[in-house]
Amino acid sequence: MLNSKMGCCLLSGSVGLVSLLSVICSVAAIGVNWGTQSTHPLPPETIVRMLRDNQIQKVKLFDADYGTLRALGKTGIEVMVGIPNDMLYTFANSEKAAEKWVSKNVSVHINEHHVNIRYVAVGNEPFLATYNGSFLSTTYPALRHVQNALIRANLGNQVKVTVPLNADVYASSTDYPSGGDFRTDIHDYMLDIVKFLSDSGSPFTVNIYPFISLYSNPNFPVEYAFFDGNATPLVDGGTTYFNMFDANYDTLVWALQKNGYGNLPIIVGEIGWPTDGDRNANPIYAQRFNQGYMMSHILGGKGTPMRPGPIDTYLFSLIDEDSKSIDPGNFERHWGIFYYDGRPKYQLSLGNSNNGSLVGAKNVRYLERKWCVMKPSAHLEDSQVAPSVSYACYHADCTSLGYGTSCSGLDARSNISYAFNSYYQISNQAEDACKFSGLSTVTNSDPSFGNCRFGITIEPDYGGSEGRTGRCFRRLLVLLSGLVLILLTIL
Ligand SMILES: *[C@@H]1O[C@H](CO)[C@@H](O)[C@H](O)[C@H]1NC(C)=O
Ligand SMILES: *[C@@H]1O[C@H](CO)[C@@H](O)[C@H](O)[C@H]1NC(C)=O
Ligand SMILES: *[C@@H]1O[C@H](CO)[C@@H](O)[C@H](O)[C@H]1NC(C)=O
Ligand SMILES: *[C@@H]1O[C@H](CO)[C@@H](O)[C@H](O)[C@H]1NC(C)=O
Repeated sequence: MLNSKMGCCLLSGSVGLVSLLSVICSVAAIGVNWGTQSTHPLPPETIVRMLRDNQIQKVKLFDADYGTLRALGKTGIEVMVGIPNDMLYTFANSEKAAEKWVSKNVSVHINEHHVNIRYVAVGNEPFLATYNGSFLSTTYPALRHVQNALIRANLGNQVKVTVPLNADVYASSTDYPSGGDFRTDIHDYMLDIVKFLSDSGSPFTVNIYPFISLYSNPNFPVEYAFFDGNATPLVDGGTTYFNMFDANYDTLVWALQKNGYGNLPIIVGEIGWPTDGDRNANPIYAQRFNQGYMMSHILGGKGTPMRPGPIDTYLFSLIDEDSKSIDPGNFERHWGIFYYDGRPKYQLSLGNSNNGSLVGAKNVRYLERKWCVMKPSAHLEDSQVAPSVSYACYHADCTSLGYGTSCSGLDARSNISYAFNSYYQISNQAEDACKFSGLSTVTNSDPSFGNCRFGITIEPDYGGSEGRTGRCFRRLLVLLSGLVLILLTIL
């Protein structure tokens, strides 16, 4: 905490934002996760502008995309870059590969592009039960090799390694935080990692999701997920817990303490609430959760009973990603505090001068206002309806349909139209993408209904350098052909 506050004071001073100094530095900074599994990602420059407009000072990435890091250059924003799980094996077995990665994906950006990289996340929840132990033996050696590479690049003090882990790496034998310890099947692996983090002055990173607890357990007391203090508290010896986050976080603190690392710094790498795709995923709950967490744990600085003080946190997430796997659930594509196109979803005070209003993305360009819908003359009973809808939903995104979602109020026809339109938009309104066995047609009147929004997609490639070059080239062609035409006419 101290570090990030000092860093931000120095930064504000050096770029001359002296008037902002007191505002920014009086509160702990909130970070956000910036994922890019999207069919239509906004250009990195647009997102970085959003981060700055909202005074978000820390960002966590899941890889080390060149364009993304370039866009973060000279902004002062603290960056955690990520190494995907599928690279762990290589780095575990080759120190040279780790060195190459550090040189290309960290050193260059720090030294030449002035990106404020502070952390390298080695793997992403590599010990999740769904991975069947695939990354158990490679995570720790990869962590060591990346750290060695950072030291060799003279970045050992400036850039710290960490491993974002799911909260399922620990559990309590008593159901109370004080019974916390690392899961028995991975206990030794965890101790290797924890000792290494401690020795190298690195933080423990944990992702905590009260929403998932509510989603996977119908008997979970809803109020216990939130921070309003309305839940029946959990009393652990002399300590009372009013929300799941505190209890879960302190279970980790106990686990660390029990194994001799009670002072290891902890970062909350992911925390958040989705807005669609499940009956408990909506903007009201998301706002309540995120704002409650901000107020109590970041701005309020209360921390947890075991660890008072503001918590270093990265919200999950900045922006929706419509091509994320929905294996965990349909909510998976709706974690953003912004929609995929950079529109804010709800009021959220980040503790700076934004006064509760998130600032959306600037200069976003949309395709034409037209939608693909079911033809009025088409029949619901048509045998092609079901396969057409399946096809559309498989390739596009129907996670806003179904019980308790934003489009749950649609009738059968509108349901089908929603699927068709989603496919049409994801296909950039290609003519061929609205030809569902004669069942569909293009319309200019917005079929949106209540909270259910039939989207218009954004231009596919208007931002990145490729997009710009492509557009430039097209314009040049048009210009040239115009000239040729004029010449021909004259001659
Ligand atoms: C740098 O990171 C990118 C994105 O994660 C990855 O594709 C690339 O292989 C990395 N470079 C090296 C030299 O490892
Ligand atoms: C894990 O094991 C299950 C069942 O044995 C299998 O279906 C799944 O594909 C495996 N996952 C991975 C990532 O290996
Ligand atoms: C901040 O928001 C509150 C309530 O939404 C409003 O009353 C107040 O005027 C706003 N202040 C500024 C400076 O915009
Ligand atoms: C709309 O589609 C969803 C998802 O395919 C389904 O769960 C729901 O029952 C459908 N509603 C109607 C009215 O057909």
